[in-house]
Amino acid sequence: MKHTGATGLRHLLPYLRQHRARLGIVFLLVVVASFIDQAQPYLIRDAIDKHILTARPDLGVVAWMSLGYLALVLLSFVLTYYLELLLQRTGQSIVREIRADLLRHIQGLSLRYFDTNSSGRIITNVVSDTEALNNFFTDFLSNTLRGCISLTLIIFFMLRMDVRFTCYSLLMVPVIGTVSYFIRFFLRKVNQEMRHRLSAAIAFLAETLSGMAVIQVFDREKKQQEDFDVCNRALLESTIKETHLNFAYFLVAETLGDLGVAALIWFGGGAVIRGSVTFGVLFAFITYIRRFFQPINQITQQLNVLQSAVIASDRITATLRETPDICEEGAGQPFVASGRIVFEGVHFAYRPGQPVLHGIDLVIEPGQRVGFVGPSGAGKTSLINLLARFYDVTDGVIRLDGRDVRSIPLKVLRETIGIVQQDVTLFSGSLIDNIRFFRTEIPEARVVEACTLVGADEFIRRLPQGYQTPLSERGSTLSFGERQLLSFARAMTFNPKILILDEATASLDSVSEAILQRAIGRVANGRTLLVIAHRLSTVRQMDFIVVLDHGRIAERGPHEKLLAQGGIYHRLHRASALPVALAP
Ligand SMILES: Nc1ncnc2c1ncn2[C@@H]1O[C@H](COP(=O)(O)OP(=O)(O)OP(=O)(O)O)[C@@H](O)[C@H]1O
Ligand SMILES: [Mg+2]
Repeated sequence: MKHTGATGLRHLLPYLRQHRARLGIVFLLVVVASFIDQAQPYLIRDAIDKHILTARPDLGVVAWMSLGYLALVLLSFVLTYYLELLLQRTGQSIVREIRADLLRHIQGLSLRYFDTNSSGRIITNVVSDTEALNNFFTDFLSNTLRGCISLTLIIFFMLRMDVRFTCYSLLMVPVIGTVSYFIRFFLRKVNQEMRHRLSAAIAFLAETLSGMAVIQVFDREKKQQEDFDVCNRALLESTIKETHLNFAYFLVAETLGDLGVAALIWFGGGAVIRGSVTFGVLFAFITYIRRFFQPINQITQQLNVLQSAVIASDRITATLRETPDICEEGAGQPFVASGRIVFEGVHFAYRPGQPVLHGIDLVIEPGQRVGFVGPSGAGKTSLINLLARFYDVTDGVIRLDGRDVRSIPLKVLRETIGIVQQDVTLFSGSLIDNIRFFRTEIPEARVVEACTLVGADEFIRRLPQGYQTPLSERGSTLSFGERQLLSFARAMTFNPKILILDEATASLDSVSEAILQRAIGRVANGRTLLVIAHRLSTVRQMDFIVVLDHGRIAERGPHEKLLAQGGIYHRLHRASALPVALAP
């Protein structure tokens, strides 16, 4: 979805609205602080003209005025400090709210969203896009406001002193504005390029780190280093370019200010000598001319911030507008399933036009144990994804105890079904918390019971800290088989009515598998059990076996019957029984 900048930023107004009071105070503070700042040269003019360069100079008044000046400087300091603090606090709390909303929203999205959006993109969205908005709420609002008010005040004070001089000085504005705009324009380009290159370098680094084992095995370290050098050098080049431009900008600004001062001394000096203006006015004008640049600079600089904020808010708005395609249609009535599953003419495609399942019809009675086998990519996992409603069927219907799964509240459905998935996901935290999924109200005894049941208890007790062992990110300190056992124990802890094992035994040694086989026998008690396996020994004992091939049910029936049929199952069985025969 594409939005214009204005729409994107408008979407953020509700967040601003909540902080109206604070923003009101900020506005007031900006006005007062700018006034104090810009009144200073005017005050000096008074001191010079009325009390220093006058017929009867008065040192006492001058002393008071300089104290007053000092007080103004201090007041401006305090106000600016408080203002920045308030702005940062407001900006950061808005950003915190947006981040929380984003994560809440993203967590509610269907898996289809995560198929098409890389986690890198989502992370950028939640972390750096919101930071760009923070800059908008803080820098843009305060600097643009402050710049505009300061510029107005400078002109106001100038006009009060001398109209003709003001007109001359204002000639500077378009010059400064144009130069500023152009240099900023190039700066913006270079800055974009730099950020682009920075994220490329980060992505490269992340990939290298996560693939370290493969890189070392294939002896790619040197090549990776060379590739990184390319990224790194490109980054260096744009950083240097940016520094150059920034410095050039600073120099040009200074020089233009100096030129203004030179011109003023020339014209203004003559005017003072002729007596048409006072020395105090000339002094104040010189100060104001030098101050011209700052607000103009502030305003043009904010174009960058505005641009990034528009892009960021567009992306955030697009994410917030994503709707989950799995919607809650369930009426929310209490529902206790007995575990009867029916697939009726189920068709499914992840992407339109690329069907994965073609007309699946299948009835599974409560308490039945069903094995699913078939070549890789046949659609076994997809079938389970539909039953658990990670995706919705393209056509047909899946019923649980006679009810369309789409009419069952998601929470109830997911409590009814326990899945031990093909990819095991562990989180950083203790082992026991991973098994009970951080639901600390589940007693340890129940976790231990589940672990004993699936045969994980033994290896867990061998760990130095047992059930309290801290797991690193993704549990990479455990073997894959151990992780599978944990995942199995996790499913059992929640005591589901329907248990699904997707390749849960693939990485286990024969002893562990035998333990698990026995466990499967025990856990099946009163449960509907669906087991997907490549190892046919795992499904042999099942009540019946479904052979999937290219998204269709090719054969079904108990082990012996399928063997006798001499079809795909027979071939698979022969291949698994005689692995040596397959070797060239
Ligand atoms: N998220 C996805 N987006 C698009 N296509 C997908 C997605 N997941 C799987 N597929 C495709 O759907 C088909 C069936 O995949 P599925 O994961 O169901 O196979 P499987 O039978 O479980 O295979 P395996 O035994 O290797 O696990 C495959 O062709 C696969 O490429
Ligand atoms: Mg699979």
